[in-house]
Order: sequence, then C-alpha cells, then structure tokens
Amino acid sequence: MEWDAHNYQKNHDFVFQYGASLLAFLPNSPATILDIGCGTGELSHQMTELGHRVLGIDTSPNMIQQAQKQFPGEKFQVVNALTFETAQPFDVLFSNAALHWITDHKSLLSQFQKLVKPGGLFICEFGGAGNIAKITQAFETELEQLGKSYQSPFFFPSCEEYQPLLEANGFLVELLQEYDRPTPLKGENGLRNWLKQFFSSNLSSLSEAKQNQVLSGVEASLKESCWKDTFWEADYRRIRIVAKRSK
Ligand code: BEZ
Repeated sequence: MEWDAHNYQKNHDFVFQYGASLLAFLPNSPATILDIGCGTGELSHQMTELGHRVLGIDTSPNMIQQAQKQFPGEKFQVVNALTFETAQPFDVLFSNAALHWITDHKSLLSQFQKLVKPGGLFICEFGGAGNIAKITQAFETELEQLGKSYQSPFFFPSCEEYQPLLEANGFLVELLQEYDRPTPLKGENGLRNWLKQFFSSNLSSLSEAKQNQVLSGVEASLKESCWKDTFWEADYRRIRIVAKRSK
C-alpha cells in the first residue's frame, strides 16, 4: 500500500499528536534513536529537538519524501524495519502507531534484539487487542454484503500475549499496559477519510461505486455509537510498551 502523505498530515495529524506523550519515556541524556514507522517525521523531529540523534525509517517513499521536505538536514530513510541492518545498534528503538501493520512480531522482536544495544530501550505504542473493533465489524458486514471477505492487515495483541514474546527475545518489561483511547476523526467525512486511508487494501479491488456503498454503509451502521454530534470517534485501543534489552 502506498500512503497519501498529504491526506495523512491534513486529516490524521492526531497520530503524531497523541504519540508525543511517549516521548516522556526517553532517556534524559542524548541517545541514538531509531524511529520505526516515522511517517512524515514529526516525532523524529521532536526527538531531535530534545537533543537526540534520530534516524526515522518508513516503508513509504511518499512519507519519507514529506519528512525530508519538512525537516531538511534530519535523517530519514525508506526501509523496512524487518530487513534494516546497522553496524551501530541504537540506544533506543521508538515507534508510534506503526507496529500493528507488521503481523509477524516474532520476527520483528528477534530483529529488534539486533538493532538495540544491550541495556537499550524499546519504547512503543500501537493498536492493542480490540482496537477498532466496532469499525472493523461494520466494515466486514458491508463487504460481506458484496460477497467479499475482510482481510485484516493488522496485529493487535493483548499484554498477556505480548509479554512472553518480549521475554523470549531478550526484553525485560518495564511498562506494559493497554487502554482505550477513543479518537476523534476530523469533520463530517472523518470516518470515510479514515477508511479510505487505512482500509485501502480491502477497498481497492472494488469499483468506485461499490467503495462508496461500503463507506456509506459503515457510516450508517456506526452513526449511533461513533457519531458525536459534530465529529466521528474511532474506537482506538492502545498497547504501550517500555522494555529494556537484557545485557
Ligand atoms: C491505529 O493507530 O490504531 C490504527 C491506524 C490505522 C489503522 C488501524 C489502526
């Protein structure tokens, strides 16, 4: 899937705004940081401003191009975290709202063990168990009416599921929590725009008319639970992790 960096920044800026609270877990002294799934680079930039040396990586060329344009002189690279190699492991692996796009976390955490120094930190937040359950259910129902089935591109784990994965890959848990984070989506078309951006892999095989049918159907079925008078609210649930690589 290729990302629309402009739409992301205009309509989904909440992604990096919420992510800013994760910065509180960074070390106080300057650290080398790999920002995994950096998107358009806002959090990488904030970490640079705090005095850290940051490399932002993302698989989307559009996102990285936009990050480079906004923050010239800062380091960004189009690369997949699963295959990224470095001779210099980082003090901190950081990631906000990205790791749910990677379904194989066994491989991911085994890779992370190589990318972070012994004693270094893995700080992240992404979708936890039950994330966007209402949206997904409504979307699935609409697709089924067209004879299609929903293919989830996501991994939304619980803490119980994730702790053994961390430990099996040499990470000691310092903080592991799940919480509901209902998330406002901008304007009357907020839910529609969100679906177009994030469920594009399921929508792209449909004609434009069928896509609109699905989008309108989802809006109608979520009107009661997710429309809050002037905006849509997505039923986000987060898993937040701070773990240290054992020495
Ligand atoms: C999330 O941040 O939880 C999320 C974003 C896009 C699609 C699915 C989940």
